Amino acid sequence: LGQPPRPAHVRIPGDIATCADYERHAVHHVEAGAWRHIQGGCDQGATLAHNRAAFDRLQLLPRPFADLRGGHTRLRMLGQAFEHPLLAAPVAYQCLVHPEGELASVRAAMALQAGYVASTLSSYTLEEIAVAAREAARELVRGAPLWFQLYSQPAREHTLALVRRAEAAGYQAIVWTVDAAVKRAGMALPPGVLAANLRGYPVRRHTSQAGQGAIILGTPLADAAPSLAELDWLRAGTSLPLIVKGLLDPVQAAEAVARGADAIVVSNHGGRVMDGVPSPLDVLPAVRAAVPEAPILLDSGIRWGTDVAKALALGADAVLIGRPLLHALAVGGMAGAAHLLHLLRAELELVLAQLGCPNLGQLAPTSVWRVQKD
Ligand code: FNR
Repeated sequence: LGQPPRPAHVRIPGDIATCADYERHAVHHVEAGAWRHIQGGCDQGATLAHNRAAFDRLQLLPRPFADLRGGHTRLRMLGQAFEHPLLAAPVAYQCLVHPEGELASVRAAMALQAGYVASTLSSYTLEEIAVAAREAARELVRGAPLWFQLYSQPAREHTLALVRRAEAAGYQAIVWTVDAAVKRAGMALPPGVLAANLRGYPVRRHTSQAGQGAIILGTPLADAAPSLAELDWLRAGTSLPLIVKGLLDPVQAAEAVARGADAIVVSNHGGRVMDGVPSPLDVLPAVRAAVPEAPILLDSGIRWGTDVAKALALGADAVLIGRPLLHALAVGGMAGAAHLLHLLRAELELVLAQLGCPNLGQLAPTSVWRVQKD
């Protein structure tokens, strides 16, 4: 009596050895509407398909004979140490797939020393997530950087309140997502799943009723879209590193960095916001050329260790993992999410060895054999 319930016994199915296996199993663990919401791409799913195709048409060139002794996958970004370049992407409402939601995924990330980005739209509060991360890090004597993903709120005072809460809770960077201010209406949340961080804040309407005649341009919805003025304001408002997530245009990436952004996440939001846009991998070389110094993270479509190597070879410093972590969380809670991160990291190390790269710094455009044109 008085004891918290013990976590249910979890058995990870024995035939799971890749992200694809988790996806195949996860469909049986998630309610149908939530599954469509998670998996879906915008419109006809062209961006979603393109995200994968961009990885698939690149080829990596194995190079035996390298001296791999003393090799490792460590990197430093923004003055922070990472054991490997895999981070958990900010993903909203993780209680849709598992009752422990973000608490389980953050524990898994800390156990596997993966950086973790908590979403503004988390189903636990950012404070609860930070406590879970700290406890896991202490118990396991491990850990990794913890960042907070910020969605601008209709009133700046509420946006700033989120930043202050993140600072107070010990988050080590703000990841400001700018590509999803205006998008189609999402799913209705089931009872009990809510944006825990925003309790008591005015509801942010960031979805259009596309198809029902509502209009975006010239409405308050458009007024609330992120702006360069807001970037300046945020930059001045926090001393934490500021990372802008959701840029594809090299010119805008350079502009953001010139205005004080510390890093960029090249992303099309996993193909969820607009159809027919380039994949992050395709624009990456141009973005890297436009911001030669700033750290670049990339997401959208990473499913294999080879994908991570391809992104790093073309100029990314690290990658974010979105849907695959949800799939693993759905199947096995914390154990599943941790297992998935382990699998991806193991795949990456195998690829590095094959490519003759004892560390991430050895990955270069020459690691890629050729880019076939469509
Ligand atoms: C997201 N993503 C996202 N991004 C963000 O900045 N804040 C958020 O709250 C969410 N929420 C969210 C929910 C769901 C269900 C998905 C699938 C994605 C986007 C996410 O951070 C990331 O950019 C993509 O998921 C990366 O693509 P993959 O790995 O899913 O292909």
